[in-house]
Amino acid sequence: MSLTPLTEVQREIRSLARTFAADAIAPHAARWDREACFPVAVARQMGALGFLGMLIPEEFDGLGLDTTSYLLALEEISAADASAAVLMSVHNSLPTQMLLHFGSDEQRDHYLKPMARGELLGAFALSEPESGSDASSLTCQAIREGDEWVISGTKSWVTSGSFADVIMVMARTDSPDARRGSKGISAFIVTPDRPGFHVGKKEDKMGLRASPTVQLNFDGLRLPSRNLLGEEGQGFVYAMRSLDNGRLGIAAQALGIARAALDASLAYAAERRQFKQAIREFQAIQFKLADMASRIESARALLHATAAAKDRGESITMYGSMCKLLASETAMFVTTEAVQIFGGYGYVKEYPAEKYFRDAKITEIYEGTSEIQRVVIARELYGGK
Ligand code: CAA
Repeated sequence: MSLTPLTEVQREIRSLARTFAADAIAPHAARWDREACFPVAVARQMGALGFLGMLIPEEFDGLGLDTTSYLLALEEISAADASAAVLMSVHNSLPTQMLLHFGSDEQRDHYLKPMARGELLGAFALSEPESGSDASSLTCQAIREGDEWVISGTKSWVTSGSFADVIMVMARTDSPDARRGSKGISAFIVTPDRPGFHVGKKEDKMGLRASPTVQLNFDGLRLPSRNLLGEEGQGFVYAMRSLDNGRLGIAAQALGIARAALDASLAYAAERRQFKQAIREFQAIQFKLADMASRIESARALLHATAAAKDRGESITMYGSMCKLLASETAMFVTTEAVQIFGGYGYVKEYPAEKYFRDAKITEIYEGTSEIQRVVIARELYGGK
C-alpha cells in the first residue's frame, strides 16, 4: 500500500524490487541469518540490477532515480531481509552520496562510477569504540607526510566492512595539541588493498546477523593525498549531510521489517484457531493489527513526503530524523506485537516473527539512536542550534 500517489516509474521500480526480493532473497534469509553470512554474489546481483546506484545520476553510471523510488525498492528488499537492506542503504546513502557531492572529477570516475554499477561495494566508517553518539569526539588520526596521509586508529560498527571495496573513513587531521572539534575531522577514501588495513573483530549480533559488522584497524595506513575527499576539516559536515539521507534509508528499512511482520501476523491470525475460531476474529487481535497497520501507514506517509521535499531541494535534516525516529519505533512496536500474536510460535526460530523483532531493534540504534534523532529534531525546532 501507499497513500501517496506513485508514478509509473515508481510502481515499476517497486515491482522489480519485489520480484527480485521474492526470488533471490526471501527464500534464503532465514539460512543467512542462522549462518551469519551474506553472499557477496547476491550483492553483485543487486548491483547488476541497479539497486546500488539508484540515486546516482546517469552521467556517473547510476540510475538517476528519485528518492521515493529508491525508498520503495529498499522497503521491498528489507521486507525480504533487513540485512540485504542495510547493505543497500549504506552503499546508496553514505559513501556514494559523499563522493557525488564532495568528490573530485577523478574520484568520481575512479570510485563513484564502479560503485554506481555495483562493481565496488561501499562502507562508511565514522564510529569508534569510544565515539558513538558523540561522533565529533572521534580519535582516529591522519597525519600528513609529504604527498601522503598516514592513518592510525580503530573504527567500529562498520556495516559491510569485511567485504567493502571502498570505505569512507572520517579521521582527525588536526593536531593532538590543538584540537578543533568537528572542524578537525576530514574524510578519506580508503581501499582494503593498502598495507596497514586490517579487518578486526566481527560483531556477534542479536539481529541483522547476515550483515557483517566489523571493526577496522588502521596501522599506519598510507594514502596518497588525492584520497582526501573535498576540503580538509570538512569531513564531519560531509558525514552529517550524508546521514540526513542515510536516515531516510534506515526508515525505509524499518518499514520493510514492520510490513513483513504485519503481513506474517495477518496470515497467521487467519489460520491459527483457538476457542473454535480463527484468532483474527478476536477483538484483542484486531486492535493489534489495526494499530500495527496505522503506524506503518503514518510512518510511510511522512517518509514519502520527506523524500519529495528532498528532491525539491529542501533541507530535510529535521524531517529525516523524524522519519527515522517514527519508522524505527514503529518497527519495534509492530514486531513486538507480531511476536505476541504468534504466541509461543513467535518465540521460536521456526517462524519468522522473532527474526523481525531482532532485526527491528537495530533501527532504533544505528545511524543515530532515537535519542539523537530527538536531539536533532529539538535543535531544529529551536532554529538550528
Ligand atoms: N548537515 C550539515 N551540517 C551539519 C549537520 C547536518 N545535518 N549536522 C551538524 N552539522 C554541522 C554543524 O552546522 C556544525 O557546523 P558549524 O560548526 O560550522 O556550525 C558542525 O556540523 C558540528 O555540528 P554540531 O555542533 O551540531 O555537532 P555535535 O558534536 O553537537 O553533534 C550530533 C551533533 C547530531 C549529535 C551528531 O554528532 C550525530 O548525529 N551523532 C550521531 C552519530 C551517528 O548518527 N552515527 C551513525 C554512525 S554510522 C552508521 O551507523 C552507519 C552504518 O554502518 C549503519
